[in-house]
Amino acid sequence: MRNQERDTGGHPEHEDHGNQKFPPPEAFRARARVRDLEHFQHLYRESLEDPDTFWRRETEDLLVRRHWTKLREWKLPKIEWFVGGELNVSESCLDRFLEGPTADKVALRFEGEPGETRSLTYRELHRQVVALAAALRARGIEKGDRVAIYMGMVPEAVIAMLACARIGAPHTVVFGGFAAEALADRLNDSGAKAVLTQDGAYRRGNILPLKAAVDIAVDEAPSVETVIVFRRLGQELCPLEMRPGRDYEWAELLAQAHPDQGYAEIVEAEHPLFILYTSGSTGKPKGILHTSYGYLAYAHVTTKYIFDIRDDDIYFCTADVGWITGHTYVTYGPLSNGATVVLYEGAPNQPDWGRFWQIVDKHKVTILYTAPTAIRAFMRAGDEFVDGHDLSSLRLLGSVGEPINPEAWLWYHRKIGRERCPIVDTWWQTETGGIMITTLPGVHATKPGTAGVPFFGVKASVLPPSDEAADPDSGGLLTIDEPWPSMLRGIYGDPERVVQQYFSTVQGHYFSGDGAKVDEDGYIRVLGRTDDVLKLSGHRVGTAEIESCLVGHGAVAEAAAVGRPHDIKGQALVVFVSLKPFRRGSPKLEAELADHIATEIGRFARPDEVCIVPSLPKTRSGKIMRRLLKNIAAFEEVRGDLSTLEDRDVVDTIVQIFSARAR
Ligand code: WTA
Repeated sequence: MRNQERDTGGHPEHEDHGNQKFPPPEAFRARARVRDLEHFQHLYRESLEDPDTFWRRETEDLLVRRHWTKLREWKLPKIEWFVGGELNVSESCLDRFLEGPTADKVALRFEGEPGETRSLTYRELHRQVVALAAALRARGIEKGDRVAIYMGMVPEAVIAMLACARIGAPHTVVFGGFAAEALADRLNDSGAKAVLTQDGAYRRGNILPLKAAVDIAVDEAPSVETVIVFRRLGQELCPLEMRPGRDYEWAELLAQAHPDQGYAEIVEAEHPLFILYTSGSTGKPKGILHTSYGYLAYAHVTTKYIFDIRDDDIYFCTADVGWITGHTYVTYGPLSNGATVVLYEGAPNQPDWGRFWQIVDKHKVTILYTAPTAIRAFMRAGDEFVDGHDLSSLRLLGSVGEPINPEAWLWYHRKIGRERCPIVDTWWQTETGGIMITTLPGVHATKPGTAGVPFFGVKASVLPPSDEAADPDSGGLLTIDEPWPSMLRGIYGDPERVVQQYFSTVQGHYFSGDGAKVDEDGYIRVLGRTDDVLKLSGHRVGTAEIESCLVGHGAVAEAAAVGRPHDIKGQALVVFVSLKPFRRGSPKLEAELADHIATEIGRFARPDEVCIVPSLPKTRSGKIMRRLLKNIAAFEEVRGDLSTLEDRDVVDTIVQIFSARAR
């Protein structure tokens, strides 16, 4: 890896798409924490060769109650970091700022979809977290009990996460876009004792009735004893039925709570902090478990260096708290650094596609962290939604969630960054807990579409695929070769499965599921998943989950879900379905099946296309050949080895049906 590029003031050195290099703009570099490659390499080497010194120094500012005695212990499936340490994560995010001027610094700046603003200082955020923690204790929720959070993007969602952390009750945040069924599954799998929710959330001018979905889900989830409801909209806009003995008003509980009962429960380093469900290759989402010290340490240090966050920054991460980015880079990372975090409730196109830029100007946002799918949608909407905005407060941009295509990268750089802001393209996963591959904004030249290099403490490789028949376009296997502090500690309820899922493809290494390539500078370009996980507008969805949902419908015999490239969403979902005997296909049934997925899983997973076919292509041993369906869905020629196919006519029939529809 080299960094000898001339400073071209943000202009590319080569006009070749994707192969251009953009050195850090001088104005950014001059005030960055790490501003040259030597310094970076020194820290990187230290993080691997002398990790004790590295992590001790870099986490010195966290508020811990007992220092660790051993950095890590690692014998799968057991993974421990900061052994012997004790802390409460919420104290590092709140209490440590209560002395001096930081107490009155704004921690959360809320922008509601209808346009109102609300600010909470660190003192006020602390007060509310303490009150909710006390209220939870008063409802009999204790250390170790699981609490589900099913809310929109309101400050109370962050308050809820921190209050759970404060009493040592692992939270499981369920994205508000998940349907009642999907929520019920997660409540049952985690054995949640309480649900924190809100009456409804604004979404694109409409109301998303969250509490109503909780009512349906809780009927199927006997572990839930308490539901606490925050009134975002009020009884008039969103009338509710409160069930006595189970449902409580958020405001009333907080008013009654005794602040003494909101004390921070001091827990061991490996005490579970949260469970977050994500999709894998099976029909059932897995509860990824993260614990306290290691997760916090990594969230803290990555935020500090990758966003180079400063006291005067106004930081805006557009991710929903229901996803890992909303955990690490809306809540724990920025708050443990004492940042001011902008929280936006609504859709990026409400009232129009200029909304993010209006928020940037209104709140003087300096750091913006968003997703490629949003960037592509802005591009598509047209420059007129950007042009009238000042955007001069911005100094750093970030991208996360899926590969960013060079075209979108360049648009982001020119139109939003005005060629002055470095872009960090950060690669990571729910399982990794924090950013693993990136550039440092004051150090590395960036390249459109290429994430960068491993962060401190991360040793990554791209290994040749073990399967010789693997598609050469999907690159090598991206693996992580050493443990890191925020790595997943297990799959909730199934601690052994983690070994088989993540550490067996490449023995002893963590395999991410992603394909990647390494370029001549040692930069890693992530190409996307090599497994059956899709990214639909940045939402992670397992094809097996879609299929298992479809075969749950009375008409469906078999189903296969595949992704096809999509200009804005990155990938679109296409499903092929065969029906049970005596059931007839029709456009109406296809629409019904799409609705079925939307109501069982969530609207974000609604397929772009449902195609009913007489039968699905299979191998002689009866395995559905999804590879062929992927070609068909993308209107590509059916490629690769067809010799194992049981009946070649099936493929021709599907091609005919599919192309007739497209016409
Ligand atoms: C993809 C999101 C390319 C990748 C934080 C990974 C990316 C999956 C990038 C994890 C990036 C995330 N470049 N691909 N910068 N960031 N991905 O768990 O396929 O929702 O495996 O975590 O997103 O998705 P998850």
